Amino acid sequence: MYKRQLEYQSLKKLNTFGIDVTAKYFAEFSSINDIQEILSNSKFLNTKKLILGGGSNLLFTQNYDGLILKNNLKGIELVKQDADFYYVKSAAGEVWHEFVMHCIKHNYAGLENLSLIPGNVGASPMQNIGAYGVEIKDVFYELEAYNLADKTIRTFSKADCKFGYRESVFKHELKNKYIITSVTFKLFKTPQFNTSYGAIETELAAMGIIDKSIRAISKAVCNIRNSKLPNPAEIGNAGSFFKNPEVVRGKYEFLKIKYPTIVGYELENGNMKLAAGWLIEQTGWKGKILGDAGVHKLQALVLVNYGNAKGNEIYDLSTKVLESVKEKFGVELEREVNII
Ligand code: FAD
Ligand code: EPU
Repeated sequence: MYKRQLEYQSLKKLNTFGIDVTAKYFAEFSSINDIQEILSNSKFLNTKKLILGGGSNLLFTQNYDGLILKNNLKGIELVKQDADFYYVKSAAGEVWHEFVMHCIKHNYAGLENLSLIPGNVGASPMQNIGAYGVEIKDVFYELEAYNLADKTIRTFSKADCKFGYRESVFKHELKNKYIITSVTFKLFKTPQFNTSYGAIETELAAMGIIDKSIRAISKAVCNIRNSKLPNPAEIGNAGSFFKNPEVVRGKYEFLKIKYPTIVGYELENGNMKLAAGWLIEQTGWKGKILGDAGVHKLQALVLVNYGNAKGNEIYDLSTKVLESVKEKFGVELEREVNII
């Protein structure tokens, strides 16, 4: 039986920005039956709906005038294995980091670089979460999702998900059309250590690690993250507010002449990805505070709520940052956080 349906539920504790808004309708589901039961209520037929996981990649700019469906599907299962891989299926409502820790405990390798990312397993394919040289598309096998229109469950392969940098089909043509109910990962029996991302090797050395392990890499990633990303339990935020922009090489070369310290990485298509945090820092926004909204002092890519900022204040600050970067560098930043 799903959790009692509530009206005008506060969402303050259900979004990591800590924005004080309400949902007109709110219901929590722990099974497919719950979903069906909730949706069978005729009241919700033409009501807009939002699936909520950990609320760590959302910015509410107003009260939500619809139904929030909070995902509480639980369970982790080793569904099969072959000579090289474990296939591990997690229900969508599992907490991402706890799932990563479960995999590390059982020596299922491949998720260690993605330690400590907030949120739930079900949201991980939405934007193909990534960190420290790994994206979930690298270890993704398939997912199951409930179609809100025809009420069937569909299995999506990796190709079906159309993963890209912080992108998937669920952010575009299938936006708000499916509830992701489980995700299955194809994890290595023999670890493929990926420590190419600069700070990991340095951190492992500082930890005195000589023999690498998935546990040690996870710990190193946690240490690095804790040193520069604000903890939402202390300061409201949703991680990187913008994506790192992609520019053609010519544009990068042009900027490099004027700004020799610009940070950029070459992509497979020959284009360059610029570090948005660097661009923002150069505009002078890093550490700035407007009311209760601010640009974090250690990581300029992260916008923060120092207390009672309204969603619109954070949004307006993001517009100012965007405009400054555009004016100084002629580079268009794109918001990564879902604006509701
Ligand atoms: P929510 O914020 O609840 O939802 C995000 C979107 O997904 C919404 O549109 C929602 O409707 C939809 N959605 C959620 N669950 C489902 C579902 N089951 N079915 C269908 N749609 C669904 N991200 C990275 O990629 N890399 C990082 O390194 C990283 N670091 C972060 C650090 C901090 C401090 C914070 C606060 C965030 C960070 N993020 C990072 C962003 C965030 O953690 C991820 O995007 C995460 O996957 C969001 O999960 P969630 O459950 O909180 O999603
Ligand atoms: N930088 C600055 N100033 C800043 C911040 C960064 O100059 O204020 C420079 C750094 O010095 C470094 C470069 O920018 O040279 C990259 O910085 P960092 O390694 O901190 O990573 P990022 O590009 O800012 C991305 C992801 C993060 C992810 C990390 C680690 C995006 C939008 N962000 O940040 O993801 O954790 O790499 O892989 O791709 C998120 O999506 O919410 C998120 C936190």
